[in-house]
Amino acid sequence: MNHKAPDMPPVGQVEGFSRMGRDEKITWLERVFLSGEYQANEILQGFRHNDPAVQRVLDGLSENTLANFPIPFGIAPNFLVNSRWYAVPMVIEESSVVAAASSAAKFWAARGGFHARVISTVKLGQVHFTYSGDPQNLQSTKAELFECLRRDAAPITANMDARGGGILDIELLDFQALEPDYYQLMVRFETCDSMGANFINSVLEQFARTLITFVGSHPTFSMDRGNIEIIMAILSNFTPECLVHVEVNCPVSALEGASDHIDAVSFAEKFEKAVRIAEIDPYRATTHNKGIFNGVDAVVLATGNDFRAIEACGHAFAARSGTYRSLSHCTTEAGTFRFWMELPLSLGTVGGLTRLHPLAKLSLDILGQPSAAQLMEIIAATGLAQNFAALRSLVTTGIQKGHMKMHLMNILHHLGASDPEVDSAIQYFKEKSVSFSGVREYLQTIRIQEIAPNADDQG
Ligand code: MEV
Repeated sequence: MNHKAPDMPPVGQVEGFSRMGRDEKITWLERVFLSGEYQANEILQGFRHNDPAVQRVLDGLSENTLANFPIPFGIAPNFLVNSRWYAVPMVIEESSVVAAASSAAKFWAARGGFHARVISTVKLGQVHFTYSGDPQNLQSTKAELFECLRRDAAPITANMDARGGGILDIELLDFQALEPDYYQLMVRFETCDSMGANFINSVLEQFARTLITFVGSHPTFSMDRGNIEIIMAILSNFTPECLVHVEVNCPVSALEGASDHIDAVSFAEKFEKAVRIAEIDPYRATTHNKGIFNGVDAVVLATGNDFRAIEACGHAFAARSGTYRSLSHCTTEAGTFRFWMELPLSLGTVGGLTRLHPLAKLSLDILGQPSAAQLMEIIAATGLAQNFAALRSLVTTGIQKGHMKMHLMNILHHLGASDPEVDSAIQYFKEKSVSFSGVREYLQTIRIQEIAPNADDQG
C-alpha cells in the first residue's frame, strides 16, 4: 500500500526536525513513514509518564523524544556479597535472566556468598596530537609542560581534588613508529564516586588548549611553533585499571544439589571444562561473556550507568591477550571449587543519570546507596551469578528447559490466554517442546472444547 500522499517528497528527508513540536514530529512520521491506519500518536501517548514533571526529566535525557520505551525493571533477591545482603535491581528484556540470577544468588548465599574486592579505580583519558618538530624538544620540556597542564586545569579539578580524586599522573607517549608525528598525553584519573566522563573530558580539553599555548610560547619551540596540532581529546573507555575481582568458592562436595542430574564431582568437572572451553575458543567465549553481561548490563542500566562503555571495556579486556577469551575462570584443586573473574567496571553512583532518573535513584537506594566501588562489587557478583546459572544449565539440563518456560508464558500472553488457559498450557507443555504454532494450536483446541458443550446445548 502506498502510504505517501502524492505531493510528498519522494524520500523521507526533513529540515529542522528537532525544532518541530512533538505533535508535529509524530504527524510527520505518520505521514511520511507510516500507513494511514497507523495511530502512532495513540501508541506513543500510552508510553508517556502520567506525571508531567517526570516526563520532562525523561524527555530531557535525549533529543527528539516522543515517548518512553519500557523495559522490565525487576529484582534479583538473596545476593550475599562480602557478607552483606542485597536485592539487586535489574533492567532487562530477556526472559530467564532475573530468575537465573536469583537462583544462583540463593545457591551461593548458602555457600558463603560472593567475595568481591576492588583492585583499583583508575580511569584514563588521552590527548591525541601530532608534532612534526624536534622530538627532543617535547622530551626536554616535559616536566614544565606537565606543571602547566596541572596548573591550568586546577579550576576544573578543585572539587574533585577536595573529594580525594583528580589527576593522578600524566605521561607523554611517542607513537611515531606507528604513525608519523603522532604523540599522546595519557592521563590517569581518580573520579571517586562519579563515573567522571564530563570531568575527564573537561580536563583533557583544557590540556589540549594548554599544550598549544605551551608550544606556542616556550622558547624551546621557537623554531617549531606551527608544528603541533591537536587531533582530539577524549577519555578512554578501556579502563583495565578500574578493576574488580569477584569469586565464589566451596568444597567440591558442597556443590551437591547444584543439579538433580549429576553428582557434585561430575558437576564440578564438567563446569570447569565448560569454562576452559570459553578460555580457549573465541566463539564460545563470546557467548559465555554475553551471559556475564546479561547480569552486568541489567544492573548497570538499573543504576543509570553507561552500559555501552561497560560492554566496550569488558570485551576489550577479554581480548587483552590478543585472543578474545572468557572473562571468568574456574579451578577444582585440592577438593575446592573456585569460580571467579576480574572485570573492569567504570561506574558512578553520583552525577550523570544516577540521581536524575527516578528509577536509577530508587535502584541505588535499594542497594543502600553504595559507593562506586561497592557498586562495582555488586555488579561483578551479578555477572558471575549469571554466568554460573547459565553454565549450570548448559552442562546439565541444557538452556532451553528454563528458557522455554518463560517463552511459553510470553506466547500465552501474546495470544491473550486466560489464567485457567495458562495453567492448563503449563501442565500440557511440561514435557513437550514449546513453539508458537504448538501453543496456538493447543489454545485453539481447548477453546473449541470449551465452546463445544454450549454448542451441543444449543443444538
Ligand atoms: C543467553 O542470553 C546467554 C547464554 O547463551 C550464555 C551462555 O551460553 O553461557 C545462555
